[in-house]
Amino acid sequence: MDHFNYRDGVLYGEDIPLTRVADEFGTPCYVYSKATLARHFRAYTEALGGHPHLICYAVKANSNLAVLGLLARLGAGFDIVSVGELERVLAAGGDPAKVVFSGVAKQAGEMARALEVGIKCFNVESRPELERLNAVAGRLGTVAPVSLRVNPDVDAGTHPYISTGLKDNKFGIPVDEALAVYTHAAGLDHVRIVGLDCHIGSQLTELAPFLDALDRLLMLLERLREQGIEVEHLDLGGGLGVPYHDEHPPAPFDYATALLERLAQWPGSERLTLLFEPGRSIAANAGVLLTRVEFLKPGETKNFAIVDAAMNDLIRPALYQAWQAILPVDTRRPRETGTFDVVGPVCETGDFLGKDRELAIAAGDLLAVRSAGAYGFVMASNYNSRPRPPEVMVDGERVHLVRRREPLEALWAGEALLPDDEATAP
Ligand code: LLP
Repeated sequence: MDHFNYRDGVLYGEDIPLTRVADEFGTPCYVYSKATLARHFRAYTEALGGHPHLICYAVKANSNLAVLGLLARLGAGFDIVSVGELERVLAAGGDPAKVVFSGVAKQAGEMARALEVGIKCFNVESRPELERLNAVAGRLGTVAPVSLRVNPDVDAGTHPYISTGLKDNKFGIPVDEALAVYTHAAGLDHVRIVGLDCHIGSQLTELAPFLDALDRLLMLLERLREQGIEVEHLDLGGGLGVPYHDEHPPAPFDYATALLERLAQWPGSERLTLLFEPGRSIAANAGVLLTRVEFLKPGETKNFAIVDAAMNDLIRPALYQAWQAILPVDTRRPRETGTFDVVGPVCETGDFLGKDRELAIAAGDLLAVRSAGAYGFVMASNYNSRPRPPEVMVDGERVHLVRRREPLEALWAGEALLPDDEATAP
């Protein structure tokens, strides 16, 4: 459920007609709904009820400060993968004590900053990373809280680019080696074992892989216990899918209920804090990308709707052949229906937002690409020297610009001409 709905033929974000957003801020433009973000976040916290838990929103999905600030106020923790994401969380008023740090290549400087601000946990993905963290913490005279990210080797049944829990993925420590790495970690002076972590992939639409992963983690916990190693939390990562098209992923409530049921059979589970790192399921359907049709271009085999947004603004269709709904914003004017490839201005054949879409549109019309709140703006680039679009947050009857359109000069800020002297003369 989200808060983008038609009223009298016009698509609204909460109580704001999207036509008004386009008039005010131009297109292309990302629009987020505050109520939807809050609703999706609360779906997790309510589902987990009385069980100790922390929802660490995956910052990579949408890292706008307004989004992070809203979630921080709702009590969220954050899953970060870089010092840039950490600084964003801090700038948005997030609590460092609720931050977990994932990622396969944490640099020493990033570790040091995370230790300095006192994050909750490092999700360590390899033995050399553990050694580096121990050394950095030692230099700072402190002890790093760690969780090992285990690769449980379960097939998440999702797109190969976003499946992360298989043996041949680069992520995590193979489950069979994890015991040895934990035992090693227990002997290090500057790390303290606090958790166990996994993340098996993204856009999962079935519960079974999550439950399989949980079973494997619980087996490992059992063996750790035999070695006298106890953890305070179990982090099950993110990955719950969203309906983009005709998928029917489980709701956070069903997901949490199934996990809690399985967990209840494990002795001592009531003392185990559950962590989740959802990104997409909180942000994707809380956002749309508004774009305007520049031209309709009929062809022999294809009709094109050429719009002002492109793969540089939203890369998911081009990169993953992802399907995202494309809707006309104002349906009040009569239009002929046609079948169109919705394509952008970028000079690549792969630059499309949707293919073979039935749309009743004319040049100048506004379209909304749905489910664009996650992995949308954050993956935008300046390819073809296109400034990145603005981001707007609607909140009931209010509209807030939460990131302005990138000015043209920003495209070359930081670049330099060669000095105008003999040595560099052509
Ligand atoms: N935790 C870790 C360690 C992750 O690697 C990810 C996502 C998440 C949490 C959040 O997963 P989510 O709940 O959003 O599924 N750009 C791709 C998605 C890449 C996801 C990468 N990792 C897309 O647009 O589909």
